Amino acid sequence: MSTQSSEYKRITTKAVLAMKEKGEKIAMLTAYDYTTARLLDEAGVDIILVGDSVANVFQGLETTIPVTLDEMIYHTKVVRRAVKRAMLVADMPFMSYQVDVKEAVINCGRMLKESGAEAVKMEGGKRILPLVEQLVDIGIPVMGHLGLTPQSIYKFGTYEVRAKESAEAKQLVEDARMLDASGVFSIVLEKIPETLAAKATKAVKCATIGIGAGSACDGQVLVTNDMLGMNEQFHPRFVRQYANLSEVMRNAFKSYISDIKSSKFPSKKESY
Ligand code: KIV
Repeated sequence: MSTQSSEYKRITTKAVLAMKEKGEKIAMLTAYDYTTARLLDEAGVDIILVGDSVANVFQGLETTIPVTLDEMIYHTKVVRRAVKRAMLVADMPFMSYQVDVKEAVINCGRMLKESGAEAVKMEGGKRILPLVEQLVDIGIPVMGHLGLTPQSIYKFGTYEVRAKESAEAKQLVEDARMLDASGVFSIVLEKIPETLAAKATKAVKCATIGIGAGSACDGQVLVTNDMLGMNEQFHPRFVRQYANLSEVMRNAFKSYISDIKSSKFPSKKESY
């Protein structure tokens, strides 16, 4: 059953901004493979993000730092084949946009041309403004990312809630305003107090998408593997678990092994 809003045949930057304007909440989830992306798109999710969280949930790495541009392009390309309605956004990985504007523009261009993404996401505030302005001018839509920015984990030293202190909170709203003025169509707000996310959401024309940032954001995003309960070790408070796929999958694997060991599989009906 599809839960999509019938008004939008395809989700574009214009549609995302219209949704904010009308107060229609935006649903975003991550995908790294064709099958998951097909199911997400059929279910009616508005934005599919090929996040650099691919490093954690697909590659088994501790941080998002090592994932490469070529790997992000590869995953976005396979997701692209499944997505018909949702807007497809790809994360730019660490060091693909930090060195200088020229190199970053080339890398973002590669992402759009080679993967079929419709927008890029990048972490940071003031520092990335000249790049955002160039990209938007060229015609590459940008989604910002403020608050807990996992590519800076070694600077923060922790995945705790960000911007609890007033100076960082003030800076975050300022960064959101500047990104908005530079032309981003949306900003992810990760792991910040609900009241601060509400303030930032009010301060900008673009759509805010929260993860661990409360209900006032214009939309919400979760890592798909987390909301499906695929990692029993990871239970942060902001993740609502909609399924327990770990248990479903483990039980299925055990039944399969047991059926083979007891010669119950394959049956006559499953043979030629
Ligand atoms: O990489 C990712 O999946 C993300 C989301 C958590 C927003 O950045």
